[in-house]
Amino acid sequence: MADALGIALVGCGTVGSGVVKLLREQPERLTRRAGRVLELRRVVVQDKLKLRSVEVPLHLLTDDFQTVLTDPQIEVVCELMGGTTTAKARVLAALAAGKHVVTANKALLADAGPEIFEAARNANRTICFEAAVAGGVPIIRALAESLAANQVTAIQAILNGTSNFILTAMAERGIPYSDALAEAQRLGFAEADPTLDVDGSDAAHKLAILAQIAFGVAAKPHEIERVGIEHVEAIDIRFATELGYAIKLLAEAWVAGGHVALHVAPVMVRKTDMLAQVRGSFNAIQLVGDVVGETLFQGPGAGMMPTASSVVADLIDLAVGRAQKTFEVAKLWSKETRGFSIEPSEKVRSRFYLRLMVIDQPGSLADVCHALAEQGISISSLVQHEAPEGNSLAVPLVIMTHYAETGKFRAAVIAIDRLPAIREPAVSYSVDD
Ligand SMILES: NC(=O)c1ccc[n+]([C@@H]2O[C@H](COP(=O)([O-])OP(=O)(O)OC[C@H]3O[C@@H](n4cnc5c(N)ncnc54)[C@H](OP(=O)(O)O)[C@@H]3O)[C@@H](O)[C@H]2O)c1
Repeated sequence: MADALGIALVGCGTVGSGVVKLLREQPERLTRRAGRVLELRRVVVQDKLKLRSVEVPLHLLTDDFQTVLTDPQIEVVCELMGGTTTAKARVLAALAAGKHVVTANKALLADAGPEIFEAARNANRTICFEAAVAGGVPIIRALAESLAANQVTAIQAILNGTSNFILTAMAERGIPYSDALAEAQRLGFAEADPTLDVDGSDAAHKLAILAQIAFGVAAKPHEIERVGIEHVEAIDIRFATELGYAIKLLAEAWVAGGHVALHVAPVMVRKTDMLAQVRGSFNAIQLVGDVVGETLFQGPGAGMMPTASSVVADLIDLAVGRAQKTFEVAKLWSKETRGFSIEPSEKVRSRFYLRLMVIDQPGSLADVCHALAEQGISISSLVQHEAPEGNSLAVPLVIMTHYAETGKFRAAVIAIDRLPAIREPAVSYSVDD
């Protein structure tokens, strides 16, 4: 058997601990699959004295990253510390020292993909990142290898488990956003500061990575239009349910001509659709390929062992030599683009859900219909529950439109919000049929 594959972990928190555990508990299985022993030689942490959920042999634990660079028997550095500044410096240093890199860090890839992939190519080393998108779901390999005969034409994905957990709790138990978030935090599905999860940033980072593999576009996360779930209200979930839909935070990519539109937003998905049935903290990615048609990948999008499963799969691929071949051919984040350019989602055609709080008075509905008609948008259905007799307060009016261009719909909403009978800013979601 070939020599052992020497491995260093930089970071031993949730993901790193899972990797240590898996390497320790399944040595025979992993050696059989890798054709080499996977040998853990260093674990770099911040605080050597910290109590860890997994036992790390003391002689492996260090707070000195340099010891990784100077050990010639370490072939692979697993960056599992998170963040972008120090993580990037360490990834670049590891590549320059001739190490391959495995990372679970979507923020790093989305922010600095071009720079670190260029550095890897210059050093003739490989970067693997299966764990960076959807945790334990093998979507990177599926896209880069198993679906390599396809041009992907659409991606619709639930990529943030925290948001999906919150939306599921709101829909199934009718609880408000704040209660669902508090429950997610109590159960460990949300960070103390959940901003990046609930405002769509985390999903945008992951979509940027998928878009690089599927379309060759190097989208910066801030170039991806993004709306989070913080303002999703129980009333809209109730109306969605009544109309036969679920609200899901979707990361979407649509190809039209030589362009691709990317966005993250809460979207109404038909209850019978597979994505609507993805519950709790699970992730799912629905891909359409021009050869295969529609495919769905689903599984745990985070967590200690699911994420470790992906990190260790990357280590096995490096040990076997598969990862190096794929990396060489895929030319990710290189200057060789495949001709897709990013366009704003203004031109994307969709159906829309529009909820207005309207004073129930003669002419108000006609004004709303007129504003929609001015943009060429026709109404597919309309729901207005009867207001109690003598009620002078605003009542909800829900309109489902036929297909319209997003830009035209947005223009209509601006006009509607200015109407005298409208008492609150309109709430709208695109509807996926
Ligand atoms: N958690 C998940 O389910 C999950 C899923 C997919 C991807 N990821 C990604 O995986 C990465 C790690 O996430 P995590 O949840 O495992 O993070 P975590 O639990 O916060 O662990 C971070 C680890 O990095 C170490 N660290 C931080 N700064 C360091 C520094 N300057 N020098 C040395 N070590 C340092 C910490 O050391 P100490 O232990 O000494 O503090 C800790 O062991 C992130 O990029 C994350 O986005 C996580």
